[in-house]
Amino acid sequence: MATGWAVPVHWDRTRADLPAGFTGTLVRALENLDANAAPNTLVICAAQIHPGHQRTGLAAQVLIAFIDLAPKHGLESVIVPLRPTLKHRYPLTPIGSYAGWTRTDGQPLDPWLRTHLRMGAKVLCPIEVSQTMTGTIPEWETWTGLAFPESGTYVIDGGLFTLGINTRLDLGVYTEPGIWLQHR
Ligand SMILES: CC(C)(COP(=O)(O)OP(=O)(O)OC[C@H]1O[C@@H](n2cnc3c(N)ncnc32)[C@H](O)[C@@H]1OP(=O)(O)O)[C@@H](O)C(=O)NCCC(=O)NCCS
Repeated sequence: MATGWAVPVHWDRTRADLPAGFTGTLVRALENLDANAAPNTLVICAAQIHPGHQRTGLAAQVLIAFIDLAPKHGLESVIVPLRPTLKHRYPLTPIGSYAGWTRTDGQPLDPWLRTHLRMGAKVLCPIEVSQTMTGTIPEWETWTGLAFPESGTYVIDGGLFTLGINTRLDLGVYTEPGIWLQHR
């Protein structure tokens, strides 16, 4: 019905030392492991609720499970490189602006951000590049179902940001933004 995953990293609790988003978190976790650096922070990387059980509040239970698990392993902080679930409807909006958008009741417009903040998380900062995905133009055409006849910027279905296409280099680069949050 519900699942999620998280990795332990070492973080000195400054903004400057935050991993470089989602991908940077995985790199940091492996670097720490190699260097025998004791982790002090749990990074929640994903939560997923079965489609038949969404909108019933289960996501909060997954988050609570991670938040409770962290101190049992000596991890004092819990942070999240959040992938805002409604951002794909606004691919042209900078993440810094989107993260600040609120509804008339003052709560965040983004439902996933709303869930976290309602549980007491605070926003640390927007992440301009949380994940980078690169591919050839034929690959991007297969993945998106679109044609990319010339170099430029394209809106892709489900993308939180636009896709940059360079036909001369036969290269498409999609950089996905996020929002750093801290729970504990
Ligand atoms: C994001 C996700 C984990 C939320 O789980 P959930 O258990 O359905 O969330 P909740 O029931 O706690 O709902 C939280 C809020 O989001 C809203 N919401 C849930 N699904 C929504 C959707 N598809 N569209 C718009 N709002 C949605 C709920 O109405 C609720 O809003 P409220 O603050 O007004 O009450 C779930 O939709 C999911 O698994 N999505 C696919 C994977 C994903 O994107 N994970 C997050 C990034 S890793």
